[in-house]
Amino acid sequence: MQIFLDSADTREIEKWLNSGLIDGVTTNPSIMYRDGLLDLREGTQQLASLITPLPLSIEVVSNDPEEMYLQGRELASWGDNIVVKIPQVNMDGVPCYGVMHRLEEEGIRINATVALSLSQVILSAKAGASYISLFAGRIADEGGNAGEVVADAVDWVERWQYKSRLIVGSIRSVGDVLQAALAGAHIVTIPPQFVAKMADHQYSRETVKQFLDDANKAAKARQTG
Ligand code: E4P
Repeated sequence: MQIFLDSADTREIEKWLNSGLIDGVTTNPSIMYRDGLLDLREGTQQLASLITPLPLSIEVVSNDPEEMYLQGRELASWGDNIVVKIPQVNMDGVPCYGVMHRLEEEGIRINATVALSLSQVILSAKAGASYISLFAGRIADEGGNAGEVVADAVDWVERWQYKSRLIVGSIRSVGDVLQAALAGAHIVTIPPQFVAKMADHQYSRETVKQFLDDANKAAKARQTG
């Protein structure tokens, strides 16, 4: 399973990149805004060069499918490692699979985003999306069973051998990460604070402290003969 960082915070990205744990980065317009990357082109190029050659997902910012297509081409031209996020539908419910398909046909990698159901996963895979982002937290917001949807989606994509890789996003706890991992997600995209939480454990800290205390005691004992 791969781990992506769901963030546009360059300091956090650099920190986790250096740990060797991260296989890519995902963003969306809300994350870019929250993390202070207000200029789409400048912010995208900064992130893309920071993590190259790892994939960076950047979302189009239009409600018009034709405009999404043109923006997708432009976004992709800003870096070799850029993956263009196209939503399943626009805010009026117009399906965007044609946009995904055209861009993939041109060799631009697509992340079919804001997927909340197995049916959307099926259509995204058929449209040729390289990645499909299932929003686990938002599935659960509506009373859905995110683990079940992820497991069914992975099963279906693999059974029919589509190239799409399932990214589980909208992570709100370490429990969500583990649920996605056990459901067979190909990738989980995790906000940095939960990667830190995954690493930490009070008893690990206490154990490390015990070892260091005893090493110090041994050093002192050596000195005093
Ligand atoms: C994933 O690619 C998205 O950026 C993200 O996980 C959306 O999650 P949210 O529900 O926190 O907005």
